[in-house]
Amino acid sequence: MKRDFVALEDLRPEELREILDLAVSMKRDWVAGRRAPLLPERTLSMIFQKPSLRTRTSFDIGMYQLGGHAVYLSPDEIQLGHRESIADAARVLSRYSDAIMARVFAHSDVVDLARWASVPVINGLSDYDHPCQGVADFLTILQRLGQLKDVRLTYLGDGNNVLHSLLIGGAMLGMHIVAATPVDYRPLPGVVQKAEALARSSGGSVTLTADPIEAVREAHVLYTDTWTSMGQEEEAAARRQVFPAYQINDALLARGAAIEGVMHCLPAHRGEEITDAVADGERSWLWDQAENRLHGQKAILVHLLKE
Ligand code: CP
Ligand code: NVA
Repeated sequence: MKRDFVALEDLRPEELREILDLAVSMKRDWVAGRRAPLLPERTLSMIFQKPSLRTRTSFDIGMYQLGGHAVYLSPDEIQLGHRESIADAARVLSRYSDAIMARVFAHSDVVDLARWASVPVINGLSDYDHPCQGVADFLTILQRLGQLKDVRLTYLGDGNNVLHSLLIGGAMLGMHIVAATPVDYRPLPGVVQKAEALARSSGGSVTLTADPIEAVREAHVLYTDTWTSMGQEEEAAARRQVFPAYQINDALLARGAAIEGVMHCLPAHRGEEITDAVADGERSWLWDQAENRLHGQKAILVHLLKE
């Protein structure tokens, strides 16, 4: 049966660990110059309903480095669900490509694609989850700190898709995830419940709070993301009023004695969720994270496509 990569909650914890181990070894080989094309002549169709720098470039270059090829389908071109149904697009693209990657607004669209496609479907960001980002983030923490289990990660800001990936994946991996969000911008309760159940098995934990100062006190890693995700643009002004206390700046960093690194999935809105001084500072892991999109996704592709 074909496998998809639509949401981290669909993975078994061992499967997430296997992907991370594969990413570590593939990255090591690539950096050492051992560059065997692991997916010769394989093809990836990439559907984008929203803009992208990292996802588009890292999948395109990743497929090339694996010996395959990626095709970019812009929002105007494909008009998913408008020009033709998701089911029809999925069946057609399955006849051309070995896998489909999709960046969508509604998570149900990527679920529908996976249902109708006969090839693996990868979620390149939906309003619910950003699983490829999660893999790159866990790879970054693993390589910076040498472990994931027992790492204390504090996320500050909006309870969005990126936080959902950190909650689910972090709970699988035995991490202690603290989410500091305004009360009206908490992660979805269903995601929190799933993460709590996973944390019970892994020895990790999930904590929600509205207090950013308390949230960073014990943290090893801080993480933030935009206050206004793609698709929420009309709420941007209102959100700018609510979130400033959650900005990662030098004053907040000074509240945590154990902070080793600061993360952001990018694009950053400097002066909003993160300051220049922190994004460009000594503890910024931002560029490792962006690089690891490439290595993490190459591992996801090999995991899904290799016979
Ligand atoms: N982090 C991330 O997904 O970046 P893009 O939106 O540029 O792809
Ligand atoms: N939460 C952001 C992530 C962008 C990579 C968004 O969905 O727009």
